[in-house]
Amino acid sequence: MQQEILKVGVLGSGKGTNLQSIIDNVTTGRIPARITCVISDVEDAFILERARKHGIEAIYIPPGKYKTRLDKETEEKYIKCLKDHGVGLVVLAGFMRMLKEDFINTFPNRIINIHPSILPAFRGLEAWKQALEYGVKYTGCTVHFVELGMDTGPIILQAVVEVKNDDTPETLHQRIQIEEHRIYPETIRLIAEGRLEIRGRKVIARY
Ligand code: GRF
Repeated sequence: MQQEILKVGVLGSGKGTNLQSIIDNVTTGRIPARITCVISDVEDAFILERARKHGIEAIYIPPGKYKTRLDKETEEKYIKCLKDHGVGLVVLAGFMRMLKEDFINTFPNRIINIHPSILPAFRGLEAWKQALEYGVKYTGCTVHFVELGMDTGPIILQAVVEVKNDDTPETLHQRIQIEEHRIYPETIRLIAEGRLEIRGRKVIARY
């Protein structure tokens, strides 16, 4: 029996360059998956525009009353929308709100996030700026499974970026994003091909 193709739902609040890298890799056939919906909490976020341009359903769901998370009712709307689109993997691509228990339990080990630092260093906002201010010589990006804590779930892939003496937050973030656009699609390929095994906090990839 042929296995059903993995259906991916992407959540984002911003410009969506990571979404673009995933779309590009799906289009070339490198990722054996289909993006069935892109959802945003920001009505005019460019990520929605990118989705529309590629014929992917782009949905704005107003975030509700909180700034950093979704209220219960809103969270239910997000979950319903993802389920209606048959989503088997939720990809957070610059989604600026924390997900709570109901959401996470609905998609166990099926939600991933990309964070612009080598976790567990520099969790939270503008991690590239934190790295620059701290004076580290290397930083980078991390793809991880999402659990309740902020940027704490089991790590799937990481990539290292050297910090240069004359870096500004912008130049450093740009170089980190180049690596993001490589390791995020690669992670989704590994999941779509069933190559990841989670053992406690360790994630093992079989190539
Ligand atoms: C990326 O830097 C990612 O690491 C962080 O949010 C940013 C999203 O960028 N979680 P984009 O919208 O994909 O361009």
